[in-house]
Amino acid sequence: VRVEFLDYDALADYGWSLDDDDLFRKASHAHLGASEHGRLLVRPDESLLEAAENRGFGWPFSCRGGACANCAVYLVEGELSQPANHVMPDDLTERGFRLSCNGYPVSDELKVVFNVKHLAELDDLIL
Ligand code: FES
Repeated sequence: VRVEFLDYDALADYGWSLDDDDLFRKASHAHLGASEHGRLLVRPDESLLEAAENRGFGWPFSCRGGACANCAVYLVEGELSQPANHVMPDDLTERGFRLSCNGYPVSDELKVVFNVKHLAELDDLIL
């Protein structure tokens, strides 16, 4: 599964929003660093977080068990499963937030914003 990713810090720096229709197009034109915007492959036995780590990226995490939300990502496109979720409320899940530590891609392609733990809505959930 191919994943295009974008660091939430870049959104904050450039004043972009998660709702921007052309978010990833803008990211492509912004000459971001390789760890801020790029692509990676997720193998079937890897969660999204594991895939990022195995490709050399340092995405945030803590518990690795669905209980802290440090690993939260926002889905712009595609779907990520959520076998263990003890922290993310339904309304945020419905809006497209997922936990990357135990989220497995269930679509052929994904576009995700990682590092969204800095978002105000998620701030209260972080342990
Ligand atoms: Fe804690 Fe994913 S690392 S919920």
